[in-house]
Amino acid sequence: MAKPPPLRHLITLADLSAEQIIDLLDTAESLRATALRPVNKLPLLRGRTVVNLFFEPSTRTRTSFELAAKRLSADVINFDVAHSSTSKGETLLDTLRNLEAMRCDLFVVRHQQNGTPAYLAEHAAPGVVIVNAGDGNHAHPTQGLLDMFTIRRHKADFSQLTITIVGDILHSRVARSDIHALRALGVGELRIAGPASLLPEDAAELGCRIYHRIEDALANSDVIIMLRLQKERMQHGLIASDQDYARCWGLDRQRLQLARADAIVMHPGPINRGVEISDEVADGAQSVILQQVSNGIAVRMAVMAKLLGQV
Ligand code: CP
Repeated sequence: MAKPPPLRHLITLADLSAEQIIDLLDTAESLRATALRPVNKLPLLRGRTVVNLFFEPSTRTRTSFELAAKRLSADVINFDVAHSSTSKGETLLDTLRNLEAMRCDLFVVRHQQNGTPAYLAEHAAPGVVIVNAGDGNHAHPTQGLLDMFTIRRHKADFSQLTITIVGDILHSRVARSDIHALRALGVGELRIAGPASLLPEDAAELGCRIYHRIEDALANSDVIIMLRLQKERMQHGLIASDQDYARCWGLDRQRLQLARADAIVMHPGPINRGVEISDEVADGAQSVILQQVSNGIAVRMAVMAKLLGQV
């Protein structure tokens, strides 16, 4: 099969074909095998420099990009936003220009404002690559890819699957990237469920069946993706209380029994334990939450190696 067209940047999964997504997942699969060897470094990005440019907090994404870059032998800069000259008013574009002048090759960008990674990609110097590590509620493409990678490792054929995304869809960039990828991959049935106050206005256009009771949404699901309540992006009053949310929308052992017996439970993290998911489910046999985290390294290795033209 011919190779799909090369990607210049990775900003969203909305414009990726199934072919491009599968190519990235296949590359991640081959790099995963390497990452598990005792000597787990590859020379693919030797001499290249990756900058983690995070304007919002992160545990999983930032650390796994750093590990992924190091496993590909790149140099890595974790740009310290709080102590940088952005605090003196230096613009984002000037920050990019200065780091480009130091011959940095690839920028991993997380920002609270939708569109910031796309803006930087528009202005990046030739050959410089921008990877979106999450912008506002717009997109989190590498999380979407690692979610697809994790699902594919457990369930063979996307067209046979019923996948249910539960919770704060309105504020979730993960939900949007998952939905774009799942639709591209031809998922059998895609469901979203959450309180009306946490469903986006364009919910009907996302190509999902909308559920207003978690019990109905979970019935016969193969994959359940629970979302974090994103209080930092939430206007006051969108939910009555954590307790009320847990009662109506939390995934506990009893509710999990409504899904297929071999259903897997996912969550992008960080988890609000006892709110969107109970401890017994988050830590239970059907949870693949920590596998998602591990898979993030191989997927991010694949994304960076691919965008820098090394695979
Ligand atoms: N899933 C995710 O993006 O987690 P972090 O915010 O810790 O990176």
